[in-house]
Amino acid sequence: MPKIIVAIDGYSSCGKSTTAKQVAKQLNYAYIDTGAMYRAVTLFFIQNHISVSNPKEVQKALSDIHITFRRHKVKGTNDTYLNGLNVEDEIRKMYVSEQVSTVSAVAEVRHALVAQQQRMGKTRGIVMDGRDIGTVVFPQAELKIFMTADPMIRAQRRQTELLEKGELVGLQEIAENLKMRDHIDTTRTESPLRQAEDAVFIDNSLMTLDEQVEMVVRLADEQIGLV
Ligand code: DC
Repeated sequence: MPKIIVAIDGYSSCGKSTTAKQVAKQLNYAYIDTGAMYRAVTLFFIQNHISVSNPKEVQKALSDIHITFRRHKVKGTNDTYLNGLNVEDEIRKMYVSEQVSTVSAVAEVRHALVAQQQRMGKTRGIVMDGRDIGTVVFPQAELKIFMTADPMIRAQRRQTELLEKGELVGLQEIAENLKMRDHIDTTRTESPLRQAEDAVFIDNSLMTLDEQVEMVVRLADEQIGLV
């Protein structure tokens, strides 16, 4: 059976990762959460007081950063590791979300992570989600999805996600963080978030997770049939 690349892009907290994870499972493909990679770099920058406006510091930091994904034996989750340490919970916290769009707008950061993501996709059979997957990382991806949802629904989903991890954050604060990230992500000069011309647009505000997954798997099956 031929293997394809499924690229899922879209705004913050619109359910990309949850959908991508399920789609990868059904297709028996690898799943890569590129947002987690930008979050891990951001965590390293915060912990080591790296200034994004100092190119030398940024370059040195990037050469010291090693990001991998490993399956959690008990939970079955695909956890993010930064230099050998499991940072899956830490990178989802609000203090990282507040800095991540600024760090991911830095050209050197993007070049390093895009190169790593392209290496990860060499074997194909991959579902990757992020902001620039269909436009920059894999412009040749067989299936591109551009996802969005109503901003308030996104804020509520994010609040539930944080609560499940024990962090209680007000809806207003979350909505403001999402708005700020959308703004930085769509207006940065280096690979801004935008819909690829050949991407399928999905507004999932009124869709269930199962409906979204079913739709993407169906589109993927169609593409696999064409390869
Ligand atoms: O998907 P997420 O919300 O965890 O992503 C966190 C941030 O990382 C997001 O605000 C923008 C950045 N990001 C990016 O610039 N490019 C990607 N491919 C993925 C994420």
